[in-house]
Amino acid sequence: MNYGCSNGNCGLCQARLVSGEVSKISHHDFVFGVAEKSMGHILLCAYTAVGNVVIEAHESAVIPEQHITTRVKKLNPLAGDIVLLHLQTPRTQRLRFLAGQSVRLDLDGRACATHPIASCPCDDRNIQFHIRLKFDDEFSQRIESLKPANTVQIIGPLGDFTLNNRSHRSILLLAFDTGFAPVKSLIEHAMQLEHSENLYLYWIAEAEEGHYMHNLVRSWIDVFDNFSYTPLNAKDLNPCATPAGGMQTDAWRDVSQALLRQLDAEHDNLNDFDIYVAGPDTVVQFVRDSLVKHGFPREQFKSIST
Ligand code: FES
Repeated sequence: MNYGCSNGNCGLCQARLVSGEVSKISHHDFVFGVAEKSMGHILLCAYTAVGNVVIEAHESAVIPEQHITTRVKKLNPLAGDIVLLHLQTPRTQRLRFLAGQSVRLDLDGRACATHPIASCPCDDRNIQFHIRLKFDDEFSQRIESLKPANTVQIIGPLGDFTLNNRSHRSILLLAFDTGFAPVKSLIEHAMQLEHSENLYLYWIAEAEEGHYMHNLVRSWIDVFDNFSYTPLNAKDLNPCATPAGGMQTDAWRDVSQALLRQLDAEHDNLNDFDIYVAGPDTVVQFVRDSLVKHGFPREQFKSIST
């Protein structure tokens, strides 16, 4: 549903209470006209339901493109050359996005790149990214030099790596390296919505220390009954993988092939799943083509190249 500031100012979250009781949970500056008031209009960001309610609200099929000037809250190393960039939006202009989507990061108009959001849309002010810094890369150098309170423009949201809410199939999430970022967003959102389908996460890391949020993922096992986690190292799947120099296309392909064999052995029928893959382009294409070749329904496959 439509919303903007989450703060009682813009009026975009306006809805009509058709039946039931609501209670005000925060002050709002937005002022309703006399007609709206008499028709029972409320702001969804400022009221909560007391029991079952029926509301009439605008539903937007597509989230509009937003341009937001955010501030750097933190820039922390995660592992090796991967950093966590934490941006904060102004209180009155939060980012509307779906779990798994990306935004374009614009650093003073001098360097831009598109990155998947690693955080949950349930916290639409605090937007996080897992960024692998690359040698001799303008964008990476500018990211490295960011300091708290510096500004970063975000433009988006972009992409359709989002959960299919209409499906009741179990979900297989294959995250390769920093492909974990959009997958984390999907899982956190699914947990928040108390998703009842089974979620199986396989996180394939290129380097030894590549499961940079291993403890966080382990903690999800305790709170989410239907969640299972398998951390894997690329070189366990393919002993010829060469993490030191960065994995090459062939090595990733072999890793993906070995992973598909493992999935086949561990699950009765992969066609019973919705499969989400996030990782290097080569991996995404290889996994999709291999699955489709063996009869996997294309509409049950979603991917993002990271
Ligand atoms: S008033 Fe802006 S989102 Fe509710």
